[in-house]
Amino acid sequence: MADQSFWADFWTQKSQADTDFQATGRGTMDVVGYLYTVRECARVLDLQPEDELLDIGGGTGVFALSLSPFIKSIRSFDISPGSVKRAQGNLSDADNVSVDLGSITDIPVGDETCDKFLAYSVLQYLEGDDAVRQALSETRRTLRPNGVGLLAANPDKDRYDAYIDRVCGDDPKAREAQYDLQKTLQWFDVERLVKLAHEVGLEATVCPIHPRIWQSFYMFDLVVRRT
Ligand SMILES: C[S@@+](CC[C@H](N)C(=O)[O-])C[C@H]1O[C@@H](n2cnc3c(N)ncnc32)[C@H](O)[C@@H]1O
Repeated sequence: MADQSFWADFWTQKSQADTDFQATGRGTMDVVGYLYTVRECARVLDLQPEDELLDIGGGTGVFALSLSPFIKSIRSFDISPGSVKRAQGNLSDADNVSVDLGSITDIPVGDETCDKFLAYSVLQYLEGDDAVRQALSETRRTLRPNGVGLLAANPDKDRYDAYIDRVCGDDPKAREAQYDLQKTLQWFDVERLVKLAHEVGLEATVCPIHPRIWQSFYMFDLVVRRT
């Protein structure tokens, strides 16, 4: 696994890519698949016009831009300075959105700040159980009572082989490169993640990802509620 400064640099480099799909790791994703990710977020979080949303690991702001007309406000944070800068540019006309530097393990906002919490494809960049527990604890701290969080798109360790087979086929060099890359990421034991969420006082449910979203074959969503 790799630490936060590695990922801050990695995503800052990515943020220079031509398109926002490339800059958020969706280089090969089709538009309809992306629209499904937004639709699923809105559905699972049951977004309402009065909702205040925290979007942590918000990348270049594509979710914030898509969701901003439908809710009261969005505060987005990311550890990558390059992504934050690109998001600020993308969101310059969205007056109910702010974008700043910040980590999911130490979110620079007060307690009980949001009604809904989104971290899309972020937990996999945390190093070890302690960092994941800290992120879950921050999710609970920042949610208002009865608030809902979507910690989306987490790689399931039981589907690791299926992932390698699908993206590399029988090509030994591609497989070697993927093994190296995947070592830097966290592949989750699903039950262990649920247990960590319970330990910090969150209700937690594991949900499959919509089949129109390509990551669905190896990732799962975690939906949490602060009681
Ligand atoms: C795969 S991209 C997803 C971006 C965005 N959520 C989306 O779906 O378009 C992962 C993002 O998480 C950010 N990230 C990684 N570790 C983080 C952390 N500890 N705290 C906040 N953001 C983090 C990265 O900088 C990157 O922008």
